Amino acid sequence: MAKKVISPGGAFSGAVELPGDKSISHRYAILAALAVGKSEIANYASAADCQSTLTCLKRLGIEIESTTERVHVTGKGLDGLSKPRAKLNAQNSGTTMRMLSGVLAGQSFTSTITGDASLRRRPMRRVIEPLRHMGARIHSEDGDRAPLEIGGGKLRAIDYKLPIPSAQVKSAILLAGLYADGVTSVTESVRTRDHTEIALREFGARVESAKAAIRIHPRPKLQPLKLTVPGDLSAAVFLIAAALIVPKSSLVIHNVGLNPTRARVLDFLISIGAKIHPGSVQMLHGELVGDISIQHSPLSGGTISGPNVAEMIDELPMLAALAPFTEKGIEIHDARELRVKESDRIAALAEGLRRMGARVDEFPDGMRVEGLNAGKLKGAKVDPKGDHRIAMALSVAALGAAGDTTIRNSDCVAVSFPQFFDVLERLREPQP
Ligand code: S3P
Repeated sequence: MAKKVISPGGAFSGAVELPGDKSISHRYAILAALAVGKSEIANYASAADCQSTLTCLKRLGIEIESTTERVHVTGKGLDGLSKPRAKLNAQNSGTTMRMLSGVLAGQSFTSTITGDASLRRRPMRRVIEPLRHMGARIHSEDGDRAPLEIGGGKLRAIDYKLPIPSAQVKSAILLAGLYADGVTSVTESVRTRDHTEIALREFGARVESAKAAIRIHPRPKLQPLKLTVPGDLSAAVFLIAAALIVPKSSLVIHNVGLNPTRARVLDFLISIGAKIHPGSVQMLHGELVGDISIQHSPLSGGTISGPNVAEMIDELPMLAALAPFTEKGIEIHDARELRVKESDRIAALAEGLRRMGARVDEFPDGMRVEGLNAGKLKGAKVDPKGDHRIAMALSVAALGAAGDTTIRNSDCVAVSFPQFFDVLERLREPQP
């Protein structure tokens, strides 16, 4: 297993464009497979998770050609998928498993979707229950875990109130709604990322959003599209944090996704003093995209809780690891979902940050990480528990620590940002 040694210092400067957004890439690939004809997706995420979606779609009989530049998907329509000869494997990707479950529920064949050890531990009842309610037959390990055997067929339209804020669950139901016998609606009490709704409309589905309810009309003929995926803001956040931490840094990130249901993290950082300026903002296939410039900044710290949490759920590991560089520290509440991500992110962060000398209090639904008053972080050997976002968050914290930090099993970053360490090195000025 690879390990990475991170040395502190070295200001960040220059400009960078990032690989495509992971969430949007999954959605474009799945909808392109359900459209009739050839779609072209530029800047498709290089994340291993998004490659898992492509592999599953190929197993379902979809022709996909990829170059480093773009992915061509020849869709066969809503009923064009074929029964896979073997199990589908979503590997580490919760989004692949949950979103494809919605599609598989609408098929006339039975199929099984599984994943790696981490994904097989993650909760799936959240998609099993609503899809069963729609008429799908789903068999799982213990009512909650993958592998999921999904027998699809005719689906009933339902009105579903999401019991937990989850864009993956919302998306699974909306995708199943394509196959239902009437208008399906999903109501969320807390807003989550809306890429599925946006992409469905772009591909030609009829989707209405009124207040918290999203309604999808069944059986559209989806049109193939030529699309470009915006850069991944959730990956950008690690570089943003690096530039905020290391003195004299000044960085520009071009063409990054700024969808308001994802950009809450920038609002929070700006509210605690971060010098972050968006520019050249434009709309691309219904998604806001722009450039952001970041400069090293003193940060005050603060609390993250309530409805905002869902909109920055993937950025919380980085924000927790940024806390030791803030004046007052950072406190996170209402983020119980962090415990059922690729790892128990609260426990993994608490362990890693404590090893580096941070003062951390763990709560069932969050954590408090002390600020500068707890003293400077020191380099240590840390274990990201196979979780890409923990590996990147601790790597960035290491940039501001005294001495070297060793990140064990560092190649897990490939799950969302394979180029992370290369990009980090490339943007750093040589240390004296
Ligand atoms: C995602 C939704 C979120 C997020 C994940 C990607 C998506 O998961 O954490 O990384 O693309 O819909 P949940 O739906 O479980 O909150």
